Amino acid sequence: MSKETVLTGITTTGTPHLGNYVGAIRPAIAASQQANTQAYYFLADYHALIKCQEPETVRLSTLEIAATWLALGLNTDNVVFYRQSDIPEIPELTWLLTCVTAKGLMNRAHAYKDAVQKNKAAGDDADHGITLGLFGYPVLMAADILMFNGNKVPVGRDQIQHIEMARDIAQRFNHIYGEHFVLPEAVVGDNVAVLQGLDGRKMSKSYNNTIPLFLPEKKLKKHINKIKTNLLEPGEPKDPDTSTVFQLWQAFATAEQTEAMRAEFANGIAWGEAKKQLFELINEELKAPRERYNELLEAPDFIEQQLKEGAEKARAYSVPLMKKVRAAVGIGSLNR
Ligand code: TRP
Repeated sequence: MSKETVLTGITTTGTPHLGNYVGAIRPAIAASQQANTQAYYFLADYHALIKCQEPETVRLSTLEIAATWLALGLNTDNVVFYRQSDIPEIPELTWLLTCVTAKGLMNRAHAYKDAVQKNKAAGDDADHGITLGLFGYPVLMAADILMFNGNKVPVGRDQIQHIEMARDIAQRFNHIYGEHFVLPEAVVGDNVAVLQGLDGRKMSKSYNNTIPLFLPEKKLKKHINKIKTNLLEPGEPKDPDTSTVFQLWQAFATAEQTEAMRAEFANGIAWGEAKKQLFELINEELKAPRERYNELLEAPDFIEQQLKEGAEKARAYSVPLMKKVRAAVGIGSLNR
């Protein structure tokens, strides 16, 4: 049986938080350990440029995100772990795909439509501040996926449309030039929780309500203490299903621990006590990776080496595929 190719990208902006960990990183690392899959995970630094024009931020975030994945046990013997910008075939393929992509398809992209909507609401020109990078974002993403014939693409719900566009683009290319690309499918984990943040809304950088993944112990404790609760006193029964504290507990606990905490809520556990236990639970899981993370941040050369090896493995696939695709569209050397 041939292996499935699981592929996903991580945009290198921002510092990973608990929501990223529970919703994306932890399941992706688990998936990469399955024998019947070949995982391709990469740092989407070209995508970062669409959102962020601060070179230091992009650089630091690339380092932090690479260190995060390695610290959490990503095994680069099993996973092809690379940086998008180390694969020159990706922007090359992006252009070939751009030339078969209908502009109308891009007009329908949520990210672009949202930006236009915001401009209109503010009374600005519809395209104010919108770059071609943002407009063409889905084509770059299609190239990321099709370059390695990724057939399963784990993403958050907000990215499903992009995978559908990658399918459309692949189909269009295949229709014109012959079968070169596998049609990718989005994989959205139904059982992975979308974590709530400090204020009870979805944990997200844009709400400024996150708990960063590798905070020092004391700060982690402080953040957990800031989680919004209600005014119920110790001894008063509390509803676990509307509680951010309980939801976070569940994301880190075993089934038995979850049931035990549910009972504690019914018994009226004090918020302070529930938060103390929550801190201990989370800290236990993150303690060792946090130490490794801090060591890795001090060893950028090691990380660079890992990424370079990853790029070499990735290019063993992308270089020959690109050669075929270039020939298919009629560019390249004249002597056949
Ligand atoms: N756009 C994705 C995000 O913001 C990241 C990404 C870039 C990606 N290229 C990809 C995800 C290819 C899956 C496949 O989450």
